[in-house]
Amino acid sequence: MKNIDSKNHLTGKSVYVDDIPVQTGTLFGAVFGSPKAHGIIKNLNFSEAEKLEGVEKIFTYKDIPGKNQIGGIIEDEPLLAENEVHFIGQPIAFVVAKSEIIARKAIKLIKIDIDEKEIIIHAREAHKKGQLLIPPRTFKMGDISSEWAKCDYIFEGRVESGGQEHLYIETQGSYAYPMDSGSIKIHSSTQGATLVQKITARVLNVPMHRIEVDVARLGGGFGGKEDQATPYACMAALASYNLQKPVKLILHRLDDMHMTGKRHPYSSDFKIGLSKEYKILAYQTTLYQNGGAASDLSPAIMERTLFHSTGAYFIPNTEVTVYSCKTNLPPNTAFRGFGAPQGMFVIESAIAKAACELNVSKTLIQERNFLKEKDTFQYGQLAENVNVGKCYDTASEIYHIEQIEQEVEEFNSKNINYKKGMAMMPLCFGISFTKTPMNQARALVHIYQDGSVGISTGAIEMGQGVNTKMIQVAAKVFSIRTERIKIESTNTTRVANTSPTAASSGADLNGNALKIACDKLLDRLKQSAAKMLNCNHSEVSIENETVLKNGMNTDIQWELLIETAFLDRICLTENGHYATPIINFDKSKETGHPFAYHVYGTAIVTVTLDCIRGTYEFDDVKIVHDFGNSMNTSIDNGQVEGAVVQGIGWTTMEEVSFGKDGKLLSNSLSTYKVPDIYSVPKNIEIKALKTDGPEFALLRSKAIGEPPFMYGIGAYFALIKAIRAFNPNYKIDFDSPLTPEKVLMRLYQE
Ligand code: MTE
Ligand code: HPA
Ligand code: MOS
Repeated sequence: MKNIDSKNHLTGKSVYVDDIPVQTGTLFGAVFGSPKAHGIIKNLNFSEAEKLEGVEKIFTYKDIPGKNQIGGIIEDEPLLAENEVHFIGQPIAFVVAKSEIIARKAIKLIKIDIDEKEIIIHAREAHKKGQLLIPPRTFKMGDISSEWAKCDYIFEGRVESGGQEHLYIETQGSYAYPMDSGSIKIHSSTQGATLVQKITARVLNVPMHRIEVDVARLGGGFGGKEDQATPYACMAALASYNLQKPVKLILHRLDDMHMTGKRHPYSSDFKIGLSKEYKILAYQTTLYQNGGAASDLSPAIMERTLFHSTGAYFIPNTEVTVYSCKTNLPPNTAFRGFGAPQGMFVIESAIAKAACELNVSKTLIQERNFLKEKDTFQYGQLAENVNVGKCYDTASEIYHIEQIEQEVEEFNSKNINYKKGMAMMPLCFGISFTKTPMNQARALVHIYQDGSVGISTGAIEMGQGVNTKMIQVAAKVFSIRTERIKIESTNTTRVANTSPTAASSGADLNGNALKIACDKLLDRLKQSAAKMLNCNHSEVSIENETVLKNGMNTDIQWELLIETAFLDRICLTENGHYATPIINFDKSKETGHPFAYHVYGTAIVTVTLDCIRGTYEFDDVKIVHDFGNSMNTSIDNGQVEGAVVQGIGWTTMEEVSFGKDGKLLSNSLSTYKVPDIYSVPKNIEIKALKTDGPEFALLRSKAIGEPPFMYGIGAYFALIKAIRAFNPNYKIDFDSPLTPEKVLMRLYQE
């Protein structure tokens, strides 16, 4: 099935928050953010701003009727700063005016005095000063301390990985208006409708049922709207509730980049021990996560880093510790991969270091240590239906990895100013929210009298194609044409208590809930049909909109069946609830079975480096991916392509940089480079591993949103190889992103 949104996206007809026609009397908001990264507010003066014609009201924390608190996991983040500010751009006041231009003008007239305090930018500095957001956590397996003595080789090193700006095309925004009986309706560009509802209710001090959140779709989220859409919805709702008028707030790109958190930069130390046969016997790593000024989702992200710190490998003795450090940056947040890429980059670096020191191919060490069937993950889960090796073997076979390696060497021996590099990146990514209770979803299905169907779920469409997949589920269960089915907006009054659409689990959780609802309806319809045909319920089936009796067509079509069932007063509405079975996790022991299944794959990345300029082009990314039994190959391939490009951006181009004063320097698209059409790999080839797919994936089609992001990590190591081919003196180091500037320095390092 084609993505239902493609045509409307292409023709500009899809509606985003800023496209919703506004009601007369709508007011417009703008956020006044802190100009300083840390300090005490001495004086806040609105007198000039308030005088401006058209300014309706300037809100501060004093105007909040409920709790001035938006922290989702830990309550450590005010909606509007009270007396202390902790990062540049931290919201202090919310101006509401007759037009956006006036609101933004008023912002410039606000005067503030801040008594500045010490600023911390880097995670290690925060750690040294005891500034942690939460206590550290450690995952352990085996016994590293006694294992080091048994290792033939031990290597140590340090790894840096940078932040990443989400750069969703639609910036953060919301539109809130009063309904009768003291309720507020909010259109928000959020991945978490219920989260917006819950936190707004907390801020306004009203029950959740007074807040209705509606989401049609997002112009991208990538994790950046899992938690961080909430404050902008709260502000619009606060003003709307207070003034009893519609209020709209859309962030400008520059403000969005300044105010919102990004992927967490990590700084890490590793120690890796190997046997003579290149088996990794022990691995120890300490990771310092730069959390920013409030915890936001950092505790959950820290957890996923721990889970994925050994990548696609089995290492019998491990000890991994993550510190979540408090700095004076905007609170960092979810971003595709959710801490896993950062952890995986460290183990890949450790292996690269070993390979370099031992002068063997990195691929060889990787391959010898792949996770295998019935190995135990660090966190106690037994590895089942493991496809790491299968993906690699398939890639080896169809892409001829050894031949690629030879071609690279041949090229390098013939060329002086251009060098090629190749790297293999294996993938193992756990599917399920790491917090077990979040793995639940609901769906609501109406069959209308004319046979058309309306479906609602908790899933939010953000470009990943989940709405199309939902329609496919209903069409498959009922065996009707997809044109009969409409997917409704995601709305908290139709589907309540939703988890955010995240953790790549949107389709699995909501699709399974939808399937349960549809199955229940189908069962009732079969009973109606049996009554019509005077036969047994078990003899009836529906295929291609026709009722079959014992496998033979009858003259009862879908429309007649529905009409008859309705006249017979059969309920044509159903609700489905799904909670992923088997998963559990005991935090006190750091063990359990947290993931429903894992996604596997292999990518081979090749790059050509211009050794005069330090610039490079990625020639190929050749992938064998374990989709399970993909329910929509064009959507799933699109997810792989997008994720690969985003991953390559993270490791090679996108450099988030802050000044000493905590100010974002890479604050526009002229200073923050994301992959464009010229920098995407010239060729991305995707082959599916042939498997049946796991029981807990939707229709056995594995989750696809985040896992392929990890393939981008291969780009870093392909580049390192190319640099080393040119400059044997280059001392291998791990400092992502490896931008052309950094590459150039390394090419001529002595
Ligand atoms: N694809 C597009 N086009 N836009 C997005 O914002 N977000 C990614 C991924 N793919 C995203 C995307 C992230 S971070 C996640 S968790 C998943 O989609 C969420 O959707 P799913 O659970 O339905 O896969
Ligand atoms: N992924 C994404 N978001 C989350 C998770 C997760 O594992 N846990 C809590 N929020
Ligand atoms: Mo995705 S980072 O789980 O929104």
